[in-house]
Amino acid sequence: MSMIGPSILSADFSRLAEEIQDVTQKGADYIHLDLMDGHFVPNLTFGVPVIAALRKTTALPFDAHLMVEHPETYIDGLAKAGVQYVTVHQEACVHLDRVLQQIREAGMKGGVALNPATPVSTLSCVAGQLDMILIMSVNPGFGGQKFIPYALQKIADAKELLQQAGNTEAVIEVDGGVNARTADAVKKAGATWLVAGSAVFGAADRQAAIAALK
Ligand code: DX5
Ligand code: ZN
Repeated sequence: MSMIGPSILSADFSRLAEEIQDVTQKGADYIHLDLMDGHFVPNLTFGVPVIAALRKTTALPFDAHLMVEHPETYIDGLAKAGVQYVTVHQEACVHLDRVLQQIREAGMKGGVALNPATPVSTLSCVAGQLDMILIMSVNPGFGGQKFIPYALQKIADAKELLQQAGNTEAVIEVDGGVNARTADAVKKAGATWLVAGSAVFGAADRQAAIAALK
């Protein structure tokens, strides 16, 4: 069973509360929140205060994807804002082990995201302490990009890594270019959490779009 997490990056930013309520009613399993700082990625979105304000709009889990430098400075604020899942980028963390501990100590689930060019093997040492691996299937920063096919092999690699580590709890999430055409291959490769921005918020019938991804 796949979990579908609409990314509000593709929502109408002038009506975020209504947009989150809309996809909640239309079958979303969780809400994916893309934090961008204009440094780690060439785009800027929103931070902790906006997430805290949006928390009351839905009962669904919040999944924060941190495309920022120094992600360790956001962890406590995200916990207080009511976020359940926090994913940091491997490329942004000099002290990845420490950040993962910090996320769990703050009472949240911790994941690591990998840019397309970063191999899954970079997570071999921390495989046992992950709640999630996020495979980026586009270069992070923008919605509406084309799915990078070699990400499929990385999903399979992530599955193998977690199996070898005896970590049966961690989930594999995929983000970027996921739509009705690419979702099947993503699921076959082993991902169970599918982020979809433009494929959900850009659809005329969002309920049908979420159902099609499932
Ligand atoms: C990209 C973000 C994604 C983005 C996906 O950097 O991490 O979550 O919203 O958008 P789509 O689904 O349109 O590729
Ligand atoms: Zn994302």
